[in-house]
Amino acid sequence: LRVAVLFGGKSGEHEVSLMSAASLIRSMDPEKYEVLPVAIDKKGKWQLRDKAAAFLEGKVERGLLEAIQKDAPSAPPALVEEKSLAPLDFEQIDVVFPVLHGTYGEDGTVQGLLELAQVPYVGAGVLASAVGMDKVIMKKVFAQEGIPQVRFTHFMRHEMKQLERVVAEVEETFGYPCFVKPANLGSSVGVSKAKDRESLIQAMRLAARYDRKVIVEEFVPAREVEVAVLGNDHPVASVPGEIISSNEFYDYRAKYIDGKSEMRIPAELPKDTAEEVRSLAIKCFRAIDCAGLARVDFFIRKDNHQVLVNEINTMPGFTQFSMYAKLWEHSGLSYPELVDRLIQLAIE
Ligand code: DAL
Ligand code: MG
Repeated sequence: LRVAVLFGGKSGEHEVSLMSAASLIRSMDPEKYEVLPVAIDKKGKWQLRDKAAAFLEGKVERGLLEAIQKDAPSAPPALVEEKSLAPLDFEQIDVVFPVLHGTYGEDGTVQGLLELAQVPYVGAGVLASAVGMDKVIMKKVFAQEGIPQVRFTHFMRHEMKQLERVVAEVEETFGYPCFVKPANLGSSVGVSKAKDRESLIQAMRLAARYDRKVIVEEFVPAREVEVAVLGNDHPVASVPGEIISSNEFYDYRAKYIDGKSEMRIPAELPKDTAEEVRSLAIKCFRAIDCAGLARVDFFIRKDNHQVLVNEINTMPGFTQFSMYAKLWEHSGLSYPELVDRLIQLAIE
């Protein structure tokens, strides 16, 4: 089977994708797969063959971690004027594995291209990718399905001049602290926790530099639990795993840089709670009409143990050490078997 692995991408999560791809490509059995690595550089240009391989060369986990540290997106990516086209001969490819995180990869754009090219691909389609990427739309869809969530509000960049409305809404409905996030980014890029009016305004300004849509969410003291979902029309949920963050919240640094955050698999939860998060994970997957894989992230309130959905990620971090793979490993599905299964789901 000829599999094109797309990685990198024009996104704040470019380096995270390189990590996922390095793991993925290394795990693919050459007896089964002819792998065609396709690197998408930060300008959006597609690089094939040697040039693509060079992106991953020598990038064992350590080297990539350094790249992530060095390139941790402290500012929004500069606007790139260059137009880019996909120089791939899709006729020669059986399946595409777009192991891309964030904008221009996890958001339905690449999926649209692959639909037009009529080539099967791993993971969510256009709609689920787009809905899963936009935290505001995602929450509205979840709300419609009666899925429990934290309270939130949002504003558009053009409303920055009328911050009072949002500040008043936050203060009247849920207050401080609260989280401020660009609506369309992953890996906590551009996210801050605001403790008072001043830090809220600062956080709103920061997030609005990354995205024209910004979401403000209620903070609840909670444990963070994640569930992996796998399948198409009959998705199955893994056991829940818990994140023990090394930082005040599970931000970019805690996720990738300081290496001190821990995963507990399975999460220590009462049986009912574990069942509840697993069935909610499937409900979220179905709510956005997802396919292939997703990781659904939850809060479990420390005070009353209420389960709240935080978000769904349609292309979760995909190294063999990532939560997604570890959750399946715990259920007896090894990383290479998981990759086989995902490719099967793409072509069935
Ligand atoms: N957005 C990152 C890759 C995740 O959800 O794991
Ligand atoms: Mg995410």
